[in-house]
Amino acid sequence: MAERVEIFEVGPRDGLQNEARQIPTADKIALVDCLSGAGFSRIEVASFVSPKWVPQMADSAEVLAGITRAPGVSYAALTPNMRGFERAMAAKADEVAIFGSASEGFSKANINATIEESLERFAPVAEAAKAAGMPVRGYVSCVTDCPYDGAVAPGEVARVAGALFEMGCYEVSLGDTIGQGRPETVDAMLAAVLGAVPAEQLAGHFHDTAGRALENIEASLARGVRVFDAAVGGLGGCPFAPGAAGNVATESVHDRLIVLGYETGLDRDVLDKAVDMARAMRIEGEA
Ligand code: HMG
Ligand code: MG
Repeated sequence: MAERVEIFEVGPRDGLQNEARQIPTADKIALVDCLSGAGFSRIEVASFVSPKWVPQMADSAEVLAGITRAPGVSYAALTPNMRGFERAMAAKADEVAIFGSASEGFSKANINATIEESLERFAPVAEAAKAAGMPVRGYVSCVTDCPYDGAVAPGEVARVAGALFEMGCYEVSLGDTIGQGRPETVDAMLAAVLGAVPAEQLAGHFHDTAGRALENIEASLARGVRVFDAAVGGLGGCPFAPGAAGNVATESVHDRLIVLGYETGLDRDVLDKAVDMARAMRIEGEA
């Protein structure tokens, strides 16, 4: 039997957070429900950050209230601080994510905190989640390159990833936030991170700005990573990372994994319907 590689669908959060036009809540709900039908086990649908910083995610509680929860699917939310965690609990998110950076420049721009300050803020969130029995995922952004500080040292990524893992994150997702990673830099970064976090607890999160996301996924597979974040239709970017294009498209990752001999457990026909929905959201936004 082919080995399973999981795609963690992040389009409704990482994808839509960057759309300039306010996407109607009902459209977000319809997209999430379609994605649930495609067979994902985890879908990131919400972000309990400041609505002043990311207005597009202000309706996250309404999205979580409106979706039809499919059995076995974990609906995830970003939580930068305790305020976000409390909102995620109230909205009945199934899991939360704390999100840091391996570079100081992006940390300040994204969450208005130094790396150390951010880790101090995340610790009580991880504690509270543990007490509530809520799984916590960790993100490290700018794992190879930062839009403000340039090349990022692999040791810094390992330090932040290790800190999140020690805090209790069940998985640490490594983000090439601006899509400038290359197979060589991804490999060097993973070599360092694997000293702090086992491959089974890592995920790759690639943006496709330079068209190298699929090559970077292959480099990560060679290092034992078996979970990849992706956004249906290649939605997305990050409002605080100038030049960041969308996440690597879920359908492209799926197709490459199949060619490489892995299985994903996804229904490609249902996924295609979600691709059409995501593209329509983009096209209407551009009109
Ligand atoms: P701040 O201004 O430093 O903090 O923001 P603050 O505590 O002074 O709060 C400022 C205001 O926000 C206050 O409201 C707070 O109440 C409110 P005011 O008094 O001005 O009316 N506030 C909140 N409101 C709702 N929910 C909350 C919350 N917290 C504070 N949880 C903060 C700090 C982190 C909140 C802010 O910087 C922020 O929201 N940043 C957003 C960052 C973000 O969402 N970035 C995109 C996601 S990360 C990403 O995309 C990368 C990733 O995909 C991986 C990769 O690709 O690398 C994950
Ligand atoms: Mg991202």
